[in-house]
Amino acid sequence: VGFKGRDVLSILDFNREDLETLFKVADDIKANPFKYSEELKGAVLATAFFEPSTRTRLSFQTAILRLGGSYIDLGEIERSSIAKGENIADTVKMLDSYVDIIVIRHRIEGTAKFAAEIAESPVINAGDGRKHHPTQAMIDLYSIHTFKGGIDGLNVAVMGDLKYGRAATSLILGLTLFKPKALYLISPPELRIRPEVMEYLKQAKVNFIETSKLEDCISELDVLYVTRIQKERFPDPAEYEKVRGSYRITLETLKEAKDDLIILHPLPKVGEIDLKVDKTKHAKYFEQATLGVPVRMALLKLITRG
Ligand code: NCD
Repeated sequence: VGFKGRDVLSILDFNREDLETLFKVADDIKANPFKYSEELKGAVLATAFFEPSTRTRLSFQTAILRLGGSYIDLGEIERSSIAKGENIADTVKMLDSYVDIIVIRHRIEGTAKFAAEIAESPVINAGDGRKHHPTQAMIDLYSIHTFKGGIDGLNVAVMGDLKYGRAATSLILGLTLFKPKALYLISPPELRIRPEVMEYLKQAKVNFIETSKLEDCISELDVLYVTRIQKERFPDPAEYEKVRGSYRITLETLKEAKDDLIILHPLPKVGEIDLKVDKTKHAKYFEQATLGVPVRMALLKLITRG
């Protein structure tokens, strides 16, 4: 089917071939950045973020500008008509009539899907609650592809808040489109993957191992994807207190690691990685964030122009 005119709601809306196309375009954009500087001339994108964001919002805005288009930003919710009680459906209807692509983030699961049902223009889910964050998964998969030369055959660990983390969840689902050798799911027992994700992994016949100890697998890993505990999504603050600070990557943790282990993180990181790790050759999370721009440029190009 390709990308043209499509909404981007879940990483599972796409297959391996789609993602490989996306990676190729992203590679070409990185190699020839100016070749694409008029690609989306005249196009306007809207960023509507009902939850905090630094990288996702700014890299989508950078991406459309680098493609020769422009953007409008809904801005602070308190300054929009939502504060007067306007419903999301009406806001989306208006945005749809103004722009060519809508990028939306909301704390309520399914908001992007709801917006996509209303809008004619493609809608990109920039995160809906704990559920999906497909473009982050695209960046994460592209980062593994870039730093490791591919995804198949690797031992990949996803660590942290696998229960409430949408970036972790989308990456885990996205990895099922490839053939990692093993997928280690490392979390405190309280923050294990949700039953529906577990079901999906079983059905996809992924070789996955759940554990609460990084020490058990660190020496095997090619990729370690770390995430923060999603404090804001805990229904009960006492539940958060139980797991707060329960894991931390330090130089000591990495003693047994392979020489070419890469550490990724969707960011923001808030203490789960010791700052000393940033200076090691393993730390790839800042480069990963940089790749957000070419990947989102490639995605915007593909959904508008094919
Ligand atoms: C993530 C998110 O918003 O889900 N951030 C991001 O987009 N890079 C991860 C997080 O907030 O922990």
